Amino acid sequence: MNGYSVAIVGATGMVGQEFIKVLEQRHFPMDSIQLLASDRSAGKKLFVSHQEIEVRETTSESLKDIDIALFSAGAEVSRYFAPIAAQAGAVVVDNSSAFRMDPKVPLVVPEINPEDIGKHKGIIANPNCSTIQLVVALYPLHRVNAIKRIVVSTYQAVSGTGLAAVDELTTQAKQVLEGQTPVPHVYPHQIAFNLLPEIDVFMDNGYTKEEQKLAEETRKIMHADDIAISATCVRVPVFTGHSEAVSVEFSHPMSADEAQYILAQAPGVKVLDDTAISLYPQPWSAAGTDEVFVGRIRQDTSCANGLVMWIVADNLRKGAALNAVQIAEEMIRRDWLKAGG
Ligand SMILES: NC(=O)c1ccc[n+]([C@@H]2O[C@H](COP(=O)([O-])OP(=O)(O)OC[C@H]3O[C@@H](n4cnc5c(N)ncnc54)[C@H](OP(=O)(O)O)[C@@H]3O)[C@@H](O)[C@H]2O)c1
Repeated sequence: MNGYSVAIVGATGMVGQEFIKVLEQRHFPMDSIQLLASDRSAGKKLFVSHQEIEVRETTSESLKDIDIALFSAGAEVSRYFAPIAAQAGAVVVDNSSAFRMDPKVPLVVPEINPEDIGKHKGIIANPNCSTIQLVVALYPLHRVNAIKRIVVSTYQAVSGTGLAAVDELTTQAKQVLEGQTPVPHVYPHQIAFNLLPEIDVFMDNGYTKEEQKLAEETRKIMHADDIAISATCVRVPVFTGHSEAVSVEFSHPMSADEAQYILAQAPGVKVLDDTAISLYPQPWSAAGTDEVFVGRIRQDTSCANGLVMWIVADNLRKGAALNAVQIAEEMIRRDWLKAGG
């Protein structure tokens, strides 16, 4: 056997579709692939490497004889089926929020904490999309000059909510342009031509769960419990690509030139920063690419040791499917993933 037996749970969804593309594009060594979803999709046909494959319902039976199971079907499905898959011998890489803050489950971004993968007990968590791009850009700076505080505002694309939200933005945009009044279904208000500062549920302290996840996950991945983080997460009428305006306070002064120099060499990062020619990262051009783009790097005029920057990445690729596949590749590279159980 020269490849692995792979399962995608949630194969018909936004992230699931991206999983298929990323596995194909990166020539992931597969002997077989199971495409799993809910009973609604059972029997549907999808293509993987020009081969038509039937989608099956996710059951305990369908998760047998799998080496690596890539989950992206929501937290409830992961909570139930991920332990079953792990018990049956698979290593699970889970895209949902179900296990991310479980101290027994590693939360991994391969550019930052690949060694944490080795601590897994069958399940590895993939971080939230807005967290991944933030830490890929900030960790290389933190290694040189410890970060004390982060204030971040996100501008998150609707594909981060899933297929239904992409359809909702498409429909509402047409309705508004035709003079009709859209009725929201996925979000609490109209998303077309609008901004919603509400992602996930509100908590007692006034923050949303998404904002809390961004802070907690960043500290866990970077092994930096004492970084102070305040986030405001906003849903924007963009199909793909999350953007973040980030103010960072370091322990010591850091110039914008030094940060640019460090980030230009950082794995997974591409600096796009030349204001003279209006060069900066944008979600439209980041969509479909693998890097985390950083630009508008400048001194924070309100903070002695501060820098401000703008970070953009494709939420479905580095923010979800790509990061999970990179975790699997890292396990293969370290000989931590066995084919055939
Ligand atoms: N979108 C992003 O940028 C992003 C980033 C990071 C993490 N995630 C996480 O990834 C997960 C999926 O997100 P998505 O954007 O791909 O959502 P989506 O487009 O709504 O797709 C959901 C997928 O889950 C499947 N599913 C739903 N209920 C199921 C069940 N009971 N059993 C088995 N499969 C079931 C769906 O299958 P059917 O087609 O049969 O309904 C579909 O394949 C979520 O946990 C999300 O938080 C998403």
